[in-house]
Amino acid sequence: MESQPTTPEKPAAAASPRPSVAARTAAGPSSAAAARPARSAARGTEVDPNDPDFKRRYVLRWLMWGSAIVFFVQSALAGLAMFWPRRVTGFGSRIDAGPLANFPVGSVTPFREGKFYLSRLEDGIIALYWRCTHLGCTVPWREEENLFHCPCHGSIYERTGQNIAGPAPRPLDYMTVEIVNGRVIVNTREIHERSVHLPEHVTPV
Ligand code: FES
Repeated sequence: MESQPTTPEKPAAAASPRPSVAARTAAGPSSAAAARPARSAARGTEVDPNDPDFKRRYVLRWLMWGSAIVFFVQSALAGLAMFWPRRVTGFGSRIDAGPLANFPVGSVTPFREGKFYLSRLEDGIIALYWRCTHLGCTVPWREEENLFHCPCHGSIYERTGQNIAGPAPRPLDYMTVEIVNGRVIVNTREIHERSVHLPEHVTPV
């Protein structure tokens, strides 16, 4: 019967460059191993808080956990900030322009924060986006002319927003207006283009 080839055993010293705990313990109190008590009570040995290795591992462990906690807290706060509803005011939001009674027939009132004019007409009220439809200049209302007159290239618009002179290709855009409990609410997010002014662009009051 043939004998099975056996794997030659490695010398114990070659398996680990460090002497075993038993060897270190056996080496006596003068050895470095004996000077350092074992590191964990879980291993059944005593923990020496003055052990430099123990202190280093302790600090590293707390640094690691501290970094992880800071990271998770920052991520949670960033997520909350992303989903937290923001209060939008000014241009791009619904603006309460005030009581309808503040806008007598014939008045043109600018609202700088919403970039529009409220023009009160005989048949209702219209919010006109103050951006010129030619190249985008801000169009001022000229009370003395009773007209909107663009300073850039001279386009002229009526109080309805209809263009009547200059290079502007169409009337001023208008915004959605609602009357809620007697107050004028302008939605500056809803801006409408038009090729000509029509009565349905005016919100009846
Ligand atoms: S930008 Fe108003 S007329 Fe040109």
